[in-house]
Amino acid sequence: MSIAAAYNIWANQYDTNKNRTRDLDKISTIETLTKYDFTRVLELGCGTGKNTSWLLEKADEIIGLDFSEEMLLKAKAKINDKRVIFKRADLTENWDVKNNYVDLITASLTLEHIKDLHHIFNQAHLKLKKNGLFFISELHSFKQYAGSKARYETENGTQELEVYVHHISEYLDAAKSNGFKLIEIEEWFDDAVKKELPRLISFVFKK
Ligand SMILES: C[S@@+](CC[C@H](N)C(=O)[O-])C[C@H]1O[C@@H](n2cnc3c(N)ncnc32)[C@H](O)[C@@H]1O
Repeated sequence: MSIAAAYNIWANQYDTNKNRTRDLDKISTIETLTKYDFTRVLELGCGTGKNTSWLLEKADEIIGLDFSEEMLLKAKAKINDKRVIFKRADLTENWDVKNNYVDLITASLTLEHIKDLHHIFNQAHLKLKKNGLFFISELHSFKQYAGSKARYETENGTQELEVYVHHISEYLDAAKSNGFKLIEIEEWFDDAVKKELPRLISFVFKK
């Protein structure tokens, strides 16, 4: 099943099923971005708009891109605000957004579905204003090595999605070779004592 088709089915339960990765991502997004100022945001793989509502507390304008019609329908049902535009788009193609336009780009739990990180960093660099920030929050590479991936339960069993393992060095190399500087890197754990593998890794890069 294609990734978009799998998300079209997942959309119905994405916001409500038990999902520690989704919930921790919300924490990593808010804790990281709360200390930055931003006005125009481009959300990559905005999904059902889980993070859009919080971003809207600080932003004047948000463009959410996603290729799943059903995930976008959920987002549109949840967020009806003139400052937000949700657009259907495949991130592996060129993004239909003005160059040098936004001051923050976010990608939460989306890049595990995208093979070529260079394309993403190349497009992000084009769309960001000078000094703009690129925030990434993804399933930690260690979790990926251990076999974790996006999945959900259906009546017919577990539906696993197509994913690509990204090493930490891949993010750093793709960022550097596309003109970004690393500002922050953080690992996010389920347990306060950090005994288990970190679930998420987040980065803030600056153009
Ligand atoms: C796990 S969901 C995350 C949604 C949201 N960012 C969140 O944190 O809840 C991943 C999203 O990325 C989208 N996605 C994956 N690959 C994509 C691509 N190539 N182009 C556009 N959207 C994509 C999926 O449709 C899905 O909505």
